[in-house]
Amino acid sequence: MTAQSIATAAYIVASLMFILSLAGLSNHESSRQGVLYGIGGMALALVATFGLVVDIADTTAVVLLVVAVVIGALIGLWRARVVEMTGMPELIALLHSFVGFAAVLVGWNGYYEVEAHGGSAEFTGSLLKIHHAEVFIGIFIGAVTLTGSIVAFLKLSARIKSAPLMLPGKNLINLGALAAFGVLTTFFVIRPSLGLLIAVTVVALALGWHLVASIGGGDMPVVVSVLNSYSGWAAAASGFLLNNDALLITGALVGSSGAYLSYIMCQAMNRSFLSVIAGGFGIVAASGEAADYGEHREISAEDTADLLREATSVIVTPGYGMAVAQAQYPVADLVRKLRERGVEVRFGIHPVAGRLPGHMNVLLAEAKVPYDIVLEMDEINDDFAETSVVLVIGANDTVNPAAAEDPSSPIAGMPVLHVWEAENVVVFKRSMAPGYAGVQNPLFFRDNSQMLFGDAKDKVEEVLRAL
Ligand code: TAP
Repeated sequence: MTAQSIATAAYIVASLMFILSLAGLSNHESSRQGVLYGIGGMALALVATFGLVVDIADTTAVVLLVVAVVIGALIGLWRARVVEMTGMPELIALLHSFVGFAAVLVGWNGYYEVEAHGGSAEFTGSLLKIHHAEVFIGIFIGAVTLTGSIVAFLKLSARIKSAPLMLPGKNLINLGALAAFGVLTTFFVIRPSLGLLIAVTVVALALGWHLVASIGGGDMPVVVSVLNSYSGWAAAASGFLLNNDALLITGALVGSSGAYLSYIMCQAMNRSFLSVIAGGFGIVAASGEAADYGEHREISAEDTADLLREATSVIVTPGYGMAVAQAQYPVADLVRKLRERGVEVRFGIHPVAGRLPGHMNVLLAEAKVPYDIVLEMDEINDDFAETSVVLVIGANDTVNPAAAEDPSSPIAGMPVLHVWEAENVVVFKRSMAPGYAGVQNPLFFRDNSQMLFGDAKDKVEEVLRAL
């Protein structure tokens, strides 16, 4: 048995473990097991690859591999330890950019190994032409993923504005880049050259940047999942070039599951899947801003406690601010206290509240909030009209009535929690600053809304004391 055949067998087992991992991750009870399968599959794939390199008996290669794995593992462990849950999406976006970068390097390496010498013994005739195309497709997907993920990282970490970049003729720019890719690939397959390779890399880098820059803040959850899918296809393309089954299968798994997740998210957010993957294709610049909504009113923690004392039913709608302030513990205490007084209290959870899917559910579970009072948006949206008090804890975009009422708003059409239909709304946040999508929220100026300014944790604790 050769090292190659052992490695191939190990890769197939690893791929099966990845499939079991995905299956496990699809529900709460088995998710821990799913993660373990993933770790196991990855460890097996690494050992098999290590075995292959050792078999070549090239000391430099072994040393390089060990050094790379150790440095990568140390950085990975450190980042995973220190990352806050609110910082997860930006970390994921950054990791996608690494996959894209690796695919670009693999593509360039493929060129220097084969095309730069006019071919190789392994690749002749039509096989050589297929290799040319593989190099180009790998570099293209990888470079789009690289810059797209960097822009997503910069937007998610608020290093650049999350509002969509609206270049004139943006759809034509995207279509032009795709057409250029087609033409360059044709020329490269006929006669490969370094100039064409540089050209396709530059076009793809620019396209990735532009695609994600064109998408607005409110749609970023879908963008992260689309980039996840792209990173999978980039890895699959590298799998073809490196003739590596594990990379090929894993890439296809990530690519297809990411695409499906993006599709589900688009449905939940009432967005067109094609429009999002085409960099906001068909979305016109929204005016939305600068409307004068009038004056807002403020409320104190004591008066909020009075409102709650009178209330018969309360709905809490948490958002990103609750996560930042770590206010879930006093919120859970407040809810417990109100329920002891006989008030009906429930939570309304928006599918993209916070910064990652299920963010609010995890925080509330951490604070031991009973699961049966935590309801999804669709389950609770009709009940706001019969609710005495809604407590909006650090949520903004997910409770913005403009999404439902103002067709010119950048978040128009996105389903939101209808909190404004309640008798009283108290909004816990620190200022009048807009939410993640950068859109002003008319809720704050409604007659039945009052603002309780300050850190959500401090303010909820104050309300709790006043109660
Ligand atoms: P956001 O619209 O992001 O608003 C959060 C609000 O919390 C801000 O307006 C902020 O106002 C307030 N806040 C921040 N720190 C606070 C603190 N310490 N105490 C009190 N308030 C604080 O929140 P959301 O309603 O949860 O909406 C989520 C947004 O993120 C959506 O646009 C969504 O598309 C996007 N997004 C979601 C995901 C996923 S998958 N969930 C991923 C990426 C992006 P102040 O600054 O005035 O305090």
